[in-house]
Amino acid sequence: MKETPCPASCCEQRCDTVKLTRRDLVAATGLGVSGTLLQQVYAAPSGPQDKAYPSLKIADLDSLKPDVPVAFNYPDETSPAVLIRLRAAALGGVGPGNSVVAFSQLCTHKGCPVSYRPERKLMICPCHWSTFDPAKSGQMVIGQASQALPQIQLRVQGNAIYAEGVTGLIFGRHTNML
Ligand code: FES
Repeated sequence: MKETPCPASCCEQRCDTVKLTRRDLVAATGLGVSGTLLQQVYAAPSGPQDKAYPSLKIADLDSLKPDVPVAFNYPDETSPAVLIRLRAAALGGVGPGNSVVAFSQLCTHKGCPVSYRPERKLMICPCHWSTFDPAKSGQMVIGQASQALPQIQLRVQGNAIYAEGVTGLIFGRHTNML
């Protein structure tokens, strides 16, 4: 197996070295295998994480009302995020019926603050109308953005909900932990 450095000219992120076999390269260049392998080989990482994520208490479970967002900042004070108790189970959800999720509030297109629209059960950006599904790990439904909203990893202990990590890269950052 040959080690190939990340093609750093494609972005400003310092990716880890990618291990490729001859078979990987042949397949990835389109000789009979779909682009899925390319996506796996060069999937954008969330950036190097030299520091551990903080554990931050966000709210008490029994204080959450369905479809009423709670704003907080994570993993630091300059990074707005939102906690939502949905009315049904969600991917990555915790708490009652796995319905509690949290996301960065910064749109992955150009960083405008998205907001939760309960009547549509979606998170919508007011700048260019990118729309994200909080029940499906922030997957983009429509719009200008090309990546899902970064999802905040949650943990429940007793009645308390803690933020303890982020999946995906927060807009405008080379690494989530500055
Ligand atoms: S900044 Fe959100 S869609 Fe453009």
